[in-house]
Amino acid sequence: MADTLKASPHGLELIDRARRRLGWNKTSPVWLDKANVSQATLNRFWKPTSIRRECFISICDAVGVDWQVIAEMPEIDPNALDAIPDLDCSGMRWVGREGAIATLLTQLKGDCRLVSVVGISGIGKTALAARLMVEPQLTQTLREQIAVNFDCESPSFAMVARSLLSETTAETEELQRDPALLVGSAITRLREKPCLLVLDMVEVLLEPDGEGGHRFKESIFEQFLTGFLRSNGMMSRIIITSQYQLPVLAEGRYLARSHQCRLSGLDPSNALKLFQKWEVSPRSEIEQQYLERAIAVYEGHPLALRAIAGEILAFPYHSNISLYWSEFGAEIEAVEKMKQAADPDGRDDQPKIDRYSLTLRDLVKKRIETTFERLYQAYPLAGILLCMGAVSRHPLERQGWLTLIFDSPEEDQQKAFDTLLRRFFLEPEIIGNQRLGYRLHSLIRCVALDYLPQLEEE
Ligand SMILES: Nc1ncnc2c1ncn2[C@@H]1O[C@H](COP(=O)(O)OP(=O)(O)O)[C@@H](O)[C@H]1O
Ligand SMILES: [Mg+2]
Repeated sequence: MADTLKASPHGLELIDRARRRLGWNKTSPVWLDKANVSQATLNRFWKPTSIRRECFISICDAVGVDWQVIAEMPEIDPNALDAIPDLDCSGMRWVGREGAIATLLTQLKGDCRLVSVVGISGIGKTALAARLMVEPQLTQTLREQIAVNFDCESPSFAMVARSLLSETTAETEELQRDPALLVGSAITRLREKPCLLVLDMVEVLLEPDGEGGHRFKESIFEQFLTGFLRSNGMMSRIIITSQYQLPVLAEGRYLARSHQCRLSGLDPSNALKLFQKWEVSPRSEIEQQYLERAIAVYEGHPLALRAIAGEILAFPYHSNISLYWSEFGAEIEAVEKMKQAADPDGRDDQPKIDRYSLTLRDLVKKRIETTFERLYQAYPLAGILLCMGAVSRHPLERQGWLTLIFDSPEEDQQKAFDTLLRRFFLEPEIIGNQRLGYRLHSLIRCVALDYLPQLEEE
C-alpha cells in the first residue's frame, strides 16, 4: 500500500464543498483537532502535496468524505496493482458462447499461446476473458491467473511488468532504465511459471497505422508480444481483448501460435436466457416476440440489451414487457425499418455483425444515451451520481459512490445508488481484499462524461 497520498484536483473540490458545509475554514482548528494533524500537514494537503496516508485519511474522515474518492492514483506506485481491477465473473450471470469457448480452449491447450478477442464495446470481450479465467481445463495447468486492465489514465508496460514480476524487481532502477531487460524479465517469468495472463482493453494501447490497421503506440508492447511468441518452451498463455484487430506480430512468422476470435452478439436463444437471468421473463407469446425483436435489432449485443432490461425492471414498468413496449416499442420499430432499408433483400444468410458493425456501434451508443436521458429525467440525482462516478475509472465501494453526492440527504443518496444498481448501470466487482466495488462499463462511462458539462451547467 502507498505510504503517502495526495489529493486530486477533483478531490480537493469535494473536500472544499464538505468543509464549507460544516462552516469550517481551510485550516480550521476544529478540523486540525478532529483529524489530529498539524496545520503544516493540512496546508500540504491543500497544496496539494503528498502527506502520510493516515493523516490523509483522517483529514478526509473529519469532514465525512471517503478518502478513496479524494486521493489521486499515483503514477508509478508499486502497489498500483491493488488498483488494477481483477476481471471478475463471480457476479456475472453467464450464458452461451459455447462455440467460442470450445474453440479457444482447444487453441489454448494446443500450441496457440496468444488469443485475441476482438469486437465492439460492450459485446462481451471482458466477460469472455473472465469466463476463461475460471475454466478448469485451463486453471489445472495454468494455476495462476493474472489480469491487467488498461482502462486507466496512463496505461503502460510498467503495469504488465508489475503484475508479473515482484514489486521490488519491477521497480529496480536497472530494469526501469532498460526496456529490453524489462521485457526479457517479463518473458522469463512467463516461461518459468506458467500462468494465464489477460490483457484487457488493449485498444487503448493502439493507434491507426494509416493503412486501415493499427499499431502499438509504444513499441515495448510489440517487443513483449513478439518475444512471447518466439520464446522456446513457453507454457504460459495470453488472452487479449481489444476493439481493434492486433497488428501483425513477429512479421507473421508465428501464425500458428496466435489466434483471433471475432466476437459478435449473443445468439437469440442465449440472449433470451440472459433476459431471464435479469428477471425479465415474457408472460406471453407476444411478449417473447417483443424481446426477440429487441434482440434482433441489437444483434444480441449484451450491453444494449442490459440497458433495456434495466428499464423494463424499473418503475413504472416493473417487469411488464408489454407496458414497456407500448411506450418505447416504436424506438425498436424505427430501427427495424432502418435496417430493412439498408438491406432491402432481407438476406439473412450472412452474419450481420460485420456489415453493420458501424451501425451497430452507433445504435448501441444511442441506446445507452437514451437510457441515460430517461434515467436523468425520471431521477435526476441518479443521473448526477452516474456522471460524477464516471469521472473516476476506478471501481468505488458503495460508500464511495454515496460520498459523491454527500450534500444530498442520506436517504436520497441511497435511493440514487440503488437506482443505478437496479438499472444495471453499475457492475459489481471484487476489489482488493474481498471488498465489493462498483464500476461503470467504459461505454457507459464515456456517455455519462459527455453529459457531465450539461449537468454541471444545470
Ligand atoms: N456471455 C455472457 N453472459 C452473461 N453476460 C454477459 C455475457 N457477455 C457479456 N455479458 C455482460 O454484458 C456486459 C458487457 O460485456 P463486456 O464483457 O464488459 O463487454 P466488452 O468487454 O466487450 O466491452 C457486461 O455486463 C457483461 O457482464
Ligand atoms: Mg471490456
